[in-house]
Order: sequence, then C-alpha cells, then structure tokens
Amino acid sequence: MTPPLSSLPDQSGVFVQGASRGLGLAFVELALSNPKIARVLATSRDPQRSDGLQALKEEHGERLVLASLDVSDEESIAEVVEDFGKLDQPLHLVLNVAGVLHDESRQMMPEKRVEDLRPENAVYSFRVNALGPLLVARHALELLAPGRSVIANLSARVGSITDNGLGGWYSYRAAKAAQNMFTRTLSIELGRYRKSHEAICVALHPGTVKTELSAPFRKHVAEEKLFSPERAARQLLGIIDGLSKKDQGKFFAWNGEEIPF
Ligand SMILES: NC(=O)c1ccc[n+]([C@@H]2O[C@H](COP(=O)([O-])OP(=O)(O)OC[C@H]3O[C@@H](n4cnc5c(N)ncnc54)[C@H](OP(=O)(O)O)[C@@H]3O)[C@@H](O)[C@H]2O)c1
Repeated sequence: MTPPLSSLPDQSGVFVQGASRGLGLAFVELALSNPKIARVLATSRDPQRSDGLQALKEEHGERLVLASLDVSDEESIAEVVEDFGKLDQPLHLVLNVAGVLHDESRQMMPEKRVEDLRPENAVYSFRVNALGPLLVARHALELLAPGRSVIANLSARVGSITDNGLGGWYSYRAAKAAQNMFTRTLSIELGRYRKSHEAICVALHPGTVKTELSAPFRKHVAEEKLFSPERAARQLLGIIDGLSKKDQGKFFAWNGEEIPF
C-alpha cells in the first residue's frame, strides 16, 4: 500500500491543528508513519491531556512537536507559529481539523428549530469552525514551503447551502458555510496574487466518523457508512495526495466527489 502523503517531498513538515483526538489524532499518526515527513506540529487546547498525543510523543520524540493552541484565540495561534518557525522546518501541509458541534459546558447542541438558537453559541461556532481555520492559515502562510503545499480545511457536507434539504443545525451549518467561503476566498488570493509558493487550499468532508463530535447523532447512520477515524483520515490524505492546481478552492467529499458550495 502507498504510504499516506506520498506526494510530499523528503523532509516535509505537516501542521495538524485539532489533533488531540478523533480525526486530528489519526492524521498525526498517519503523517508520522511516513518517514519522508521530518516534523509534525500537532496542536489542541491542552495536548498534555491527550493520551493519544502523549503516546505518539513518547514513540516519535522530536519528530512530533506538541503545542497548546486555541483557535478562538489569535494570540495563541501567532505564538505557536512563531515558536515552530524557529525550527526552520517549512510546512508542506496545514490541516485545519478543530471543530465544534456540541459542547456540554456551554449547553451547546445543534438546533432543531429556530427557537433553539442561542446567539452566544452561534458566535462561538463561527469562531471555532470558520474564523479559526482562516486565522491559522493566515499565520501559517509565512512557513509554507516554496513549491506545492496544501491547506486543507475540515468542513462538513451540511455546510453546503446547495445541499441543504433537511434544515436544522443552524449554527454549525452556517459556520461551515462561512468556512467554505473563507476557503474559496483564500484560494483565490493564493492562486492569483501570491507567487512565492504554490499553495492549494481546499475544503474536505470526511463522511460520518466515529468520534466524540458525531457520537450523539449517529444512531440512524448505517454501520457501513460509519468510518473509523483512521479510515476517514487515510481517505482524506489520499485526496490531498492527488490535488493539483485545478482543484484550487474546491470542496471534496471523502470519496473524491466534488460538493457544491
Ligand atoms: N466526526 C464526523 O462525523 C464529522 C463529519 C463532518 C465533519 N467533521 C469535521 O471534522 C473535524 C474533526 O472532527 P472530529 O469528529 O474529529 O471531532 P472531535 O473528535 O470532537 O475532535 C475535535 C478536535 O477539535 C479540537 N478543538 C475543539 N475546539 C477547539 C478550540 N477552540 N481550539 C483548538 N482546538 C479545538 C479538539 O481539541 P481539544 O478539545 O482537546 O482542544 C479536538 O482535537 C471537525 O472540523 C468537524 O466539524 C466531522
């Protein structure tokens, strides 16, 4: 089997934010399994509390750099990128994975009806799901390798306005739709105006994945349509390996299907 991220050159750098569990942790593990990847920067709000990241750190030592980053706090993003920059490791892939759908501590659940909408939770969803990835990309741009690189933002099919036939989930849908707009807009800037590198920026839908995020909402999903984080991450890395300039700014599902915005 071809190793994940075989499109990346020797001595590559990969940045996964939202890495403490679920898909993000699986991306980190798969990236580290490829010896061409020299360094992986993995962040979450408190990587010390992630047993998965701590075990990988034990196994891979300096190839794995762990740092605390809250995507709703731009200062923490700037600090992490600045510190990582001191290692002189160019980045070939930035994976924006962090997302929020529900959060018990905020009494945040996806809305069934418009009456359920809580403005403070809608704003928080926007900060994490939409603004976070754009701010991470803005700061990480300075570390991008010359030549081909990829910024991949974990979106969700429910963020497609065209595809919305069911309604509900106001805040998450709108935040992912906004993320998609940021992805498309940044991709135009990268493709047209920034010639110092050839970064491709895309949005990705992983399918339904067995993680904490989807746990309360999977009971009607058939078992064969539920992916393990490892499988979902491998499928998306396959898509990333196949990306070329013609894919700039597009939105892809796990099986390569292009999703309309
Ligand atoms: N699972 C699915 O079925 C599914 C379907 C469609 C799209 N997606 C998207 O795929 C992505 C990954 O989802 P998942 O299922 O792997 O979720 P998950 O298991 O709940 O993990 C979420 C990750 O985001 C991080 N995170 C949350 N808030 C953060 C913040 N403010 N700052 C920094 N990191 C933060 C968490 O780290 P800490 O809490 O440790 O900081 C954790 O690493 C999300 O963007 C999600 O919307 C998932």
